[in-house]
Amino acid sequence: MAFTLTVNGETHSIDADEDTPLLYVLRDELKLHGAKYGCGVGQCGACTVLRDGAPLRSCFVPAASLGGQAITTLEGLRGPGGALHPLQRAFLDEQAGQCAYCIPGMILAAEALLRVKPDPTEAEIRTALDANLCRCGSHNRIVRAIQRAAKERQG
Ligand code: FES
Repeated sequence: MAFTLTVNGETHSIDADEDTPLLYVLRDELKLHGAKYGCGVGQCGACTVLRDGAPLRSCFVPAASLGGQAITTLEGLRGPGGALHPLQRAFLDEQAGQCAYCIPGMILAAEALLRVKPDPTEAEIRTALDANLCRCGSHNRIVRAIQRAAKERQG
């Protein structure tokens, strides 16, 4: 089945089975490896991307169903010349990643939160990331990183 998909501001022509998950198209066809395969059933958040600015589990949503919607992956957050996004810098500064497998999904979930809530409380951050799992137990550093990025964004 042929369809178009808009990812990080670019529209791509894709030819894949109609039930192929978005994650597979991103990683295998478009070579965007930011989103990770964790559980494959929508429960861990490793595959999180943004759909029109809101978090989406890409592991079980068919890519063919997303025509006309703007998909953003971790790669799409980079600034001009490949500059790190403030959230990426903050995660590095706070050493929030241990194995870092969950971090792309965490950063995109945090980006979605900060777009609607630029100055979230700690409780709001924890609630927003509640469904993104980190098996290393880096949650406190992740929360600090998001707080740091929020402060930086506010100048
Ligand atoms: Fe998609 Fe776990 S891999 S939620």
